[in-house]
Amino acid sequence: MKFFVDTADTADIRELAETGLLDGVTTNPSLIHKAGRDFLDVVREICAIVPGPVSAEVVALDHDGMMREADILRRIADNVTVKVPLTLDGLKTCRRLTEEGTMVNVTLCFSANQALLAAKAGATFISPFVGRHDDNGFDGMQLISDIRLIYDNYGFDTEILVASVRHPVHVLESARIGADVATMPPSVIRQLVRHPLTDKGIEGFLADWAKSGQTIG
Ligand code: E4P
Repeated sequence: MKFFVDTADTADIRELAETGLLDGVTTNPSLIHKAGRDFLDVVREICAIVPGPVSAEVVALDHDGMMREADILRRIADNVTVKVPLTLDGLKTCRRLTEEGTMVNVTLCFSANQALLAAKAGATFISPFVGRHDDNGFDGMQLISDIRLIYDNYGFDTEILVASVRHPVHVLESARIGADVATMPPSVIRQLVRHPLTDKGIEGFLADWAKSGQTIG
């Protein structure tokens, strides 16, 4: 499973990229607002840090406007993935961009039927929002299972990019189901590493090593 980080904070992206665990980045207009920097500058900087897909979202709601914005975004770097909302205009834009060889992430997916449409439109990625789905009384992980089943039934190669991830259990369940990608806030990626028994084990080994009086090298 690929790991994307869901942030526009380039300091965090740089630090995580250095671990070699990062396969891509997703941003959205809210994350850009939080970063408090020029959108195009941030996307340019992220694309230079991470060679994998970097999602940058259009804000126009009509097809022509989306295409105009996509043209600006995709000129930034080859790894820019244009993010479009799951609307009819978004799907039309997805089809056109895909035919022109641009990667597309169809975002704000909350049903398996929507995911089916995105695959038919040739999306590179579909982004089902599991956390927001859970928040509204639905089962986010059931949505991922349904999409996996449907994509496998028909051999669609659109990648399931699990979004709105809130905690490590979302990541575990996504991996069990066979989602292709999970995009996570930096805090969740860091949480995945930690286990109290790992910390306790290191502490015990180091205490015994100190008593042995030895050094390496
Ligand atoms: C994904 O591409 C979105 O940017 C993101 O996962 C949204 O997550 P949120 O529901 O925590 O805002």
